[in-house]
Amino acid sequence: MPESITITDNRNGQSIEIPIVEGGVNSAEWSKLLPGLWFYDPGFSATAECESAISFIDGDAGVLQYRGYPIEQLAERSTYLEVAYLLLKGELPTAAELEDFVGQVTIHTFIHENVKRFLEGFHYDAHPMGMLVSELAALSTFYPDAKRIDDPEIRWGHTVRLIAKMPTLAAATHRFCSGMPFVYPNNALSFPENFLSMMWKMSEPAYEANPALVRAIELLFILHADHEQNCSTTTMRVVGSAHADPYSACAAATAALYGPRHGGANEAVLRMLTSIGSLDNVPDFVRSVKEGHGRLQGFGHRVYKNYDPRAKIIRQAAYDVFAVTGKNPLLDIALKLEETALADDYFISRRLYPNVDFYSGLIYQAMGFPVSMFPVLFAIPRTAGWLAHWNEMLDHKTKIARPRQLYSGAPRRDYVPIGERS
Ligand code: ACO
Repeated sequence: MPESITITDNRNGQSIEIPIVEGGVNSAEWSKLLPGLWFYDPGFSATAECESAISFIDGDAGVLQYRGYPIEQLAERSTYLEVAYLLLKGELPTAAELEDFVGQVTIHTFIHENVKRFLEGFHYDAHPMGMLVSELAALSTFYPDAKRIDDPEIRWGHTVRLIAKMPTLAAATHRFCSGMPFVYPNNALSFPENFLSMMWKMSEPAYEANPALVRAIELLFILHADHEQNCSTTTMRVVGSAHADPYSACAAATAALYGPRHGGANEAVLRMLTSIGSLDNVPDFVRSVKEGHGRLQGFGHRVYKNYDPRAKIIRQAAYDVFAVTGKNPLLDIALKLEETALADDYFISRRLYPNVDFYSGLIYQAMGFPVSMFPVLFAIPRTAGWLAHWNEMLDHKTKIARPRQLYSGAPRRDYVPIGERS
């Protein structure tokens, strides 16, 4: 069987044979046969936007790999910074490389004092995700050389800075929203410990986080670090393809992540579980979803048509956290909801399973994070994935992203003076 497809233009009988390479067909080839005819693909459901060697997903089998390594192995044995290195460089670091990378990240955790002052301009009840988007965009003005994306050394410097500063910016939004003083990074601590210290430290000389909670944050950071061409990563690539600096591109990616269909879903899950309120209300809630009144948040995925492997790991990890914090009372509602949905033909026939967001919010809430911080907790580790894709895209010398449209508006018409309009 030839590994190719043949397209025939029935208007003139001309055909073209296009090879299938890596599971795709090159659009430049069919454009030779069909100039001016565009493939209509809203939501890019059937479009490979790029070639990438970072993450692999088999949505039918529920498989996720970073640079070939199964997510289950990385979740069990790695750290977030090791995974960030893997995503960025393509290989697991040696001990010396990891030490050097961790050192580079650690010395870049501080933010300019003016960034802190910038936060004071926000209203007291500003959403932390809106604040994070603005802080990231503002950082581009602090590092004008970040525009020099053609210089690999400068690019690496800002890649490290962004990974290092995300927890500091994230914790700063929370401290500001809660009226608490900003906590400076403590560079004697590990990446997740330092984040928890900046979140929760009060008057004690040094904040000591519970090791089980540090491990849970590390695990969640690993699981959220990358997920191939999701909405925010695509945004990062699209904005980056215009050669915007990485801070502006990360601000745009964070804005995409803010949406309830994407990184805002874990926040939506918690609100949904809270509004369901009790086990008795689960059947009625599922019925209303089936009747088209809203969606079952934390269920369904564009790519996974099976249990999201990250959701499986998080569901398990939840019990380790609850052993320290006490069980989140919403867990029982979540379990009942999952059981009801997975036995229901509506969800079975549409292949809707729990995704990464279904259980993560329960852990975050048990650890004391306010619901509005959930998408921020997603943005911190996803920064590694965004930057891996941004660097890969620039290495591939990708063209500016510029899709076509099918115009469905009015034909040419003449301007009508305002007094003559009906
Ligand atoms: N609850 C109920 N029905 C659903 C759900 C859901 N969560 N998700 C999809 N469906 C239904 C749709 O109504 C549609 O049914 P129909 O064929 O009868 O019209 C069918 O399943 C297909 O849905 P689409 O919207 O076409 O699927 P798409 O791939 O575009 O959407 C998405 C994927 C956005 C994740 C969707 O499943 C959803 O909205 N889920 C809830 C929000 C959520 O959990 N988002 C987090 C995703 S993971 C992440 O970003 C980290």
